[in-house]
Amino acid sequence: MYERLLSQLAHVQIVSPKFEESVAFFKTVVGLEESGRDGKSVYMRGWGDHFYHCLEIIEGDKPALGHIGWRAQGPDQLEKAVKRIEATGYGIGWVDATAGRGKAYHYRGPGGHEHYLFWDVTRFTGEGDMAPIFPNRPQRFNPRGVAARSLDHVTVTTANPEEDANWYREALGHRYMESTIADEEAGFGDFVVFAMTTVCERSHDFGLVADFSGVPGRVNHVAFWVDQREELRRAADVLLDADVPIEFGPGRHGMGEQDYLYFREPGGLRIELNSGGYHNYEPDFETVRWTPAQGSNVYYRNQKMPHSMFESFPPAENTHAEDDMAKTTLFV
Ligand SMILES: [Fe+2]
Repeated sequence: MYERLLSQLAHVQIVSPKFEESVAFFKTVVGLEESGRDGKSVYMRGWGDHFYHCLEIIEGDKPALGHIGWRAQGPDQLEKAVKRIEATGYGIGWVDATAGRGKAYHYRGPGGHEHYLFWDVTRFTGEGDMAPIFPNRPQRFNPRGVAARSLDHVTVTTANPEEDANWYREALGHRYMESTIADEEAGFGDFVVFAMTTVCERSHDFGLVADFSGVPGRVNHVAFWVDQREELRRAADVLLDADVPIEFGPGRHGMGEQDYLYFREPGGLRIELNSGGYHNYEPDFETVRWTPAQGSNVYYRNQKMPHSMFESFPPAENTHAEDDMAKTTLFV
């Protein structure tokens, strides 16, 4: 049975080899707000994000995931979650407060991804021109570019998505909502090539894609939310007018029933926009299993996903891994 220990995906730290270009892109095209900077980081948030930041950008040689930040359901749940992580052997230890959050527990998931779990957060309230006119909003709606409202999910890669999803469920109470196994002709048997979990009411805030590269801790994309499906179509226009190629979409995923649109930020990392989808609150929800032919990825079952979508970050030297992944026909 699901026991809620985490309340939400709070932020994602990404690495960009084109730091200033990435910051400018997220600000002017994606429409995020800059909350602040320190020596190495720029902190950003969507106009509807209530915390100090949902995205932290740091500079590095290659596009990559830095870490993922989760907020606990409460201080007691934080302590309980830490005990459970430590019991699995994946815990690293407590770290001091930093921008946007209080003290946090650092752990590394089975796929090698860095996570921080905390209770105390810094909230954002706009002042001056940013002061909200509605009391339930963190700031005035001041649309710019895509005007993404908030962070939606992060999708990482790992050698065994189902094993990892089960670890996150058992250690931390993520609900394991939906999975895809390869179509029969691909010869992968019952191997799960994509799994998605959630700690909230949305279909997923965490995705796990199979990765045959042998490189731990990689990421496939980071996703942001817009309120309406029509805004996703508008976002496609905004991107094209900003000379940003669209990698895949707009379309609809069967899994989660969310509309999608994928593109790359200047550092090379894949970004997704989402809207639509269902809400689910069941603590005993049984994981749904799909095959690609049923429309797990392409709801309309009428097109293939481009091969480039199998690239994850940092890029793998072994590109055969991506060809192998393509054989799963996951994204038909
Ligand atoms: Fe996604």
